[in-house]
Parts: sequence; structure tokens; C-alpha cells
Amino acid sequence: MPSDAQNILDYHGSNAIFLVWNFNDNMAVDDAFKNICALVINLNNSMAIRFPDTGASCVMGIGYEAWHRLHLPTPLPKEFEVFEPVIGAKHQALSTRGDLHFHIRGNDKSICYDMANAISAVLQPVASSVEEIHGFRYWDGRSILGFVDGTENPQGEKRAFFGMIGANDPAYSGGSYLFVQKYVHNLTAFNALPLHEQEKVFGRSKRDDIEMPENVKPSNSHSALANVGDDFKIIRDNLPFGNMSTNEMGTYFIAYASQFSTVKKMLTNMFIGSPEGNYDRLLDFSTPKTGTLFFVPTLSFLKAAAAGELESEMPAPEPAEKPAPAKDGSLNIGNLKSEKEYE
Ligand code: HEM
Repeated sequence: MPSDAQNILDYHGSNAIFLVWNFNDNMAVDDAFKNICALVINLNNSMAIRFPDTGASCVMGIGYEAWHRLHLPTPLPKEFEVFEPVIGAKHQALSTRGDLHFHIRGNDKSICYDMANAISAVLQPVASSVEEIHGFRYWDGRSILGFVDGTENPQGEKRAFFGMIGANDPAYSGGSYLFVQKYVHNLTAFNALPLHEQEKVFGRSKRDDIEMPENVKPSNSHSALANVGDDFKIIRDNLPFGNMSTNEMGTYFIAYASQFSTVKKMLTNMFIGSPEGNYDRLLDFSTPKTGTLFFVPTLSFLKAAAAGELESEMPAPEPAEKPAPAKDGSLNIGNLKSEKEYE
């Protein structure tokens, strides 16, 4: 991973805390923002020294409205916008506000707790915590619905290729689009399905996580509709969560992407359907309660923000590079960073 990027490409590990904070109205927030940028850098450096083998890190994303309120640089990242709801005939991906998002990872829960606590101490005076999800690794990487989640994620150097902005938006190279949705599942209804029907919902076998052959996989299965082609992938870091007293069992869907349009394509297929009306059957058992797009800038962006040295205008982009030839001819990297640049 390029050293200047936040830790967007790591695997999700065993525990995570996901936090969304919104700035309060009519308050000066610039100093708190500087302090939180400094804290995020401090936390990552400190955890890397103190607990190098625990996968501890904290990634901060900034929402569209907050970007404007904080007078962050213009022009904005090319595909940064307020997430527009995706309205299907039966299911809807709603849009909710989020100013700052924290993706706190650590195999040790104590580390996650301490990082969340430090963030809260800085933001409490000027902002409100509107979401806090404690995600955990469920058995061998399963969603709470019992199916392994993450198998078709890009691996190795392809993670940087699909997860991080490249040469198509040089001012923000090394950054990433972060899209999150908190889903709540109707586990009672899903668990009432016979095994072969559950498997048809995902298009994969439950126990062994094997993909169904194309001629068997239903066209309304999750894997049929979320797969929008080999050139369009994202890095998913979903983790399940569960609360017995509120009976809220769910999936925190979290994706890092080099282009937000890829996520939108997937959501359109899932919620509106492909063809229209053939929507994702997973949605009959899963309801999104939030939906927000954030932008994850580089560490040097955070450092400059902490020092009050961010330029109000990003340098003008270089003329578009000639697309580099794909290594194996299978990837259309015309508007993305060449994988060579990460080697
Ligand atoms: C209810 C929330 C969700 C759950 C429980 C879930 C779970 C899963 C599972 C179990 C798989 C199969 C194994 C794998 O490849 O990871 C999968 C695949 C996938 N999901 Fe989801 N998912 C959810 C929402 C989403 C959303 C909102 C998107 C996109 C915006 C998405 C994109 C994908 C993609 C791209 C694949 C790989 C498809 C393939 O190439 O076969 N998922 N998901």
C-alpha cells in the first residue's frame, strides 16, 4: 500500500468499531477538526509501535456537507457527492447524513475501545455520535446470516487498484471513496427458509462457500446482481453485529472504492434490479437503516489539516494519462491508476 494512504486496504480483522459523528449546528468546529486529524495520525502511529501484530488502525472519512462546512479544498474529489437514495419498487437504499466516519480495527477489543474513547473526548464538545456499531468476526468470516462474506473481494495488489484513487484524479491520488450502510436482518424469516432456498439467496453453498454454476445460480441472487463485471470491483470490509436485548442483528456494509460509480452500479442492480424488477432477494431479509458516502483523504492531507496548512485549492490536475496496457488484457484501467505504480 502507498505509505501516504490511510489503512484502507487491510483485511478486516477480528473486531471493529464503526462510528459516525455529526457536527452540532451553530458551533465553531475548525479547531476540533484540526485536533481530530492530529489524533487519528497519533493513534495509528502509536498502535503500530505498541501493538504491531494486532491489526490496529483507525481510518477517518469525511462527509460531503462537512467538507463544505470545514472549507476543505476545491475542486472536490471527482465522484464525491451526497449519496442519492436508490429507490426500487420494493426496497430502498436511503441516504443519511454523516460528517465524520471512523473505521477502528484491532484484533484486541481493548485497543478499539481506547481509540473510540479518545475520538469521543475530542469530538464530544462540538459534535454528536449518531452511530456506533461494534462488529466482530463471526466464525470463519461469516455474515450473521451464516454465509461467508468477502470471498470475491480483490486480493493482493488488486486491492490498491480497486480500492484507491489513482491517476484519474491526481489531486486526490491515494484517497478512497468510503460507502457505508447499516443493515438489519430479519433472521427469523431467513432461518425459516430451507437450506437450498437460503443458498439461492446468495448463489453460493452455505457450508463450503462454493459459488453455484452460472446455469444454476438464480438471476435474483445476491452474487449474480452485485457482480457488475471484472473491471468493477470494490473492497468490502463488512462485519456482523448483534444485540439480543433489542433483537437487532445485522451487517455493517462498508466498502472502499477507487470510483464511487462502481458502488452505485451495484446498488442499482440490487435495489432496482437487472433487468428492472429483478431485484436482489437478499433485500427481502435485509433492510438498510443508513447510507452515507464519505471521502477518505491521505495521511498528508490529514497532517496538513492538523497544522492548518491545507491549501484551499487543490493543484490543477495533470492532463489525463494515456491508459497503460493491462497486464493480462483483462482489466480496463483507462481511468484508474496503473497497477505498476503500486509495485
Ligand atoms: C445485507 C448486506 C450484505 C450482506 C450480508 C452481504 C453478503 C455477501 C456475501 C455472503 C457474499 C458472497 C461471498 C463474497 O464474495 O463475499 C457477497 C458478495 C458480494 N457482495 Fe454483498 N452483502 C451485502 C450487501 C452488499 C452491498 C450493499 C453491496 C454493494 C453495494 C455488495 C457487494 C457485493 C459484491 C460485489 C459481492 C461479490 C459478488 C461476486 O463477484 O460474486 N454487498 N455479499
